Amino acid sequence: MTSAYFPVARMRRLRRTRALRDMVQENGLSPRDLIWPVFIRDGHAIAEPIASLPEVERLSLDKLLPAAEKAHKLGIPAICLFPYTDQSLRTETCEEAWNPENLTNRAIRMLKAEFPELMVMTDIALDPYNANGHDGFVVNGEIVNDETVEALVKMGLAQADAGADILGPSDMMDGRIGALRDALEAQGHKDVAILSYAAKFASAFYGPFRDAVGASGRLVGDKATYQINPANREEALRCVARDLAEGADMVMVKPGMPYLDICRAVKDQFGQPTFAYQVSGEYAMLMAAAQNGWLDRDKVMLESLMSFKRAGCDGVLTYFAPRVAQALAE
Ligand code: PBG
Repeated sequence: MTSAYFPVARMRRLRRTRALRDMVQENGLSPRDLIWPVFIRDGHAIAEPIASLPEVERLSLDKLLPAAEKAHKLGIPAICLFPYTDQSLRTETCEEAWNPENLTNRAIRMLKAEFPELMVMTDIALDPYNANGHDGFVVNGEIVNDETVEALVKMGLAQADAGADILGPSDMMDGRIGALRDALEAQGHKDVAILSYAAKFASAFYGPFRDAVGASGRLVGDKATYQINPANREEALRCVARDLAEGADMVMVKPGMPYLDICRAVKDQFGQPTFAYQVSGEYAMLMAAAQNGWLDRDKVMLESLMSFKRAGCDGVLTYFAPRVAQALAE
């Protein structure tokens, strides 16, 4: 990279007017870049606030429909479903996870019937159904890998049968992507895409999410034996390479803002569709400061999302999605 010296080069020349600044803007943010994570629950006419996620609600399915319609009309291409499972359906054996009639699968069918063009993404992990809050089966205190993968495949197939467009394995078990891809091909779901949570770190920024899905009080221990150590960059890149080799169509880095270096490295090394998840704790931080009047909510929202585009991401999962799309439309 070369640059002339001052005064031949004056960086401020191109910052002088709005039109000049716009003309040389390198990255852009559009509703097309957004995936909206939504919490769903059983019941009727319920929009239940979540204390640690201001302005995010758990929606009963009748309330999900108008919310999805609004997002769709704003140009958001996909929503991602996260179930708040009734406490009585959380067991050590997690069979509700692959019940064709579970809350998520009912929601998928309903959404695809109403808005066929809105993409529906799901999460594959056992935590919303597990009595102990873990993403995999716990046997004698150990989160067992291979047995969990078998269950995750059943869970993913049930979601594909219900009509899901994109499956998001978020569990970090080894071998899940290959097993899921093989099963999808074998069961006639060749066009169902996998967006792998490939570089998912063992992060404390997931706290509010665990409140939202009702897993906080249940989680015994932590997820350090399956999620990536936040200190490790090369391991994250190996995880991405492995998931791509096993058949992931798209990959995700998670959390987002504290891991932008990983986003950039993934895009540069693999050149594949790359997403980041601006997770619950990141959203909560910004919202808490905004509610105190310390930050300008819409400005930090847009700036934080632009940082993902600058870091090479094709898109972002964010709880801000409808608000961003609204702000961009105005
Ligand atoms: C479940 C899952 C988690 C998130 C998405 N899927 C939580 C976890 O791994 O404990 C976190 C999302 C967020 O914090 O917004 N496996």
